[in-house]
Amino acid sequence: MKDTLWLDDAKNALVIIDQTLLPNEEFFAELTTTEEIADAIKRLRVRGAPAIGVAAACGAYLAAKKALRDGADFYPAVRGAIAILAASRPTAHNLFWALERMEKALASADTPAASVAAMKAEAERVIDEDIASCTAIGEYGAPIFRDGMRVLTHCNAGRLAAVRYGTALAPIYRAAEKGVALKVYADETRPLLQGARLTAYELSSAGIDCTLLCDNMAAGLMAKGEIDAVIVGGDRVAANGDTANKTGTLSVAVAAKHFGIPFYVAVPYSTIDPSCSTGRDIVIEQRSPDEVTSLWYTKPMAPTDVKVYNPAFDVTPGELISAIITDRGLLRPPYRF
Ligand code: MRU
Repeated sequence: MKDTLWLDDAKNALVIIDQTLLPNEEFFAELTTTEEIADAIKRLRVRGAPAIGVAAACGAYLAAKKALRDGADFYPAVRGAIAILAASRPTAHNLFWALERMEKALASADTPAASVAAMKAEAERVIDEDIASCTAIGEYGAPIFRDGMRVLTHCNAGRLAAVRYGTALAPIYRAAEKGVALKVYADETRPLLQGARLTAYELSSAGIDCTLLCDNMAAGLMAKGEIDAVIVGGDRVAANGDTANKTGTLSVAVAAKHFGIPFYVAVPYSTIDPSCSTGRDIVIEQRSPDEVTSLWYTKPMAPTDVKVYNPAFDVTPGELISAIITDRGLLRPPYRF
């Protein structure tokens, strides 16, 4: 199975599986310019916090390589590219974490050529660390599952959201490798359907038992005693454990609390942002109304002039999270980062 994204240095390209075309078409796009990469992040052709960080790191390196090739005013050109990438989406901490690393690599050398070499090495480290941290999350998280458990997930925090393994789905994959069979319920995840288009596709391709449901059916399933655990990813975790994740995660967490079902968040440390003391400090991306009213339909499903509320994420309070599964182990409340 191919990775979700990688750097093709010979072609001066970031290669991504175009997630806007899944599950109908597996198309790998070669992105070469900063604008193309920023636009791909904005339009969710590449998405999921870890994958966004990797894409941005590769984008910054490719911009530096191009500036050197073109004889551009090197340092301003690269800093300009980093600013364009940083403006692509506001919520996933991995984007800013990766770009800060690239900015440091840029500044770490005395000549443009040496800066490009340092940025290449740094982008490769970001990729390798993503693979390693997701592997560790899988290892630490798998023991929470016992054979036959029924697990609900929201959005896509699987291999499509990272380079290779994903965060929330990594413990599920690892459990399956150990012979622990799980039944996974995937919320379709309105409005952009990452659960239907991506998680259901990804889990089914991996041979994992997966059932798709509409978001508003999850509480009913919990009430019937048919969910044993919930596991989701995160886009940014504040110092107190409050976690921004795909819109709708909060309702799942509230319902899980009500029914006494453990609610797990799986993130690499690169998603944790101690500079946000609570979830109130996290900037939540607002997206276009057409995602709610018309994007997936052959004709509009709402009056054309209706006002639309479309935040891409919501914040689940740390106290609703039974444990945060990280690449350094399982953390329990109260969280202090
Ligand atoms: O808007 P998206 O699809 O980028 O949102 C993704 C999520 O909310 C994921 O759950 C989160 O990034 C974790 S991915 C490992």
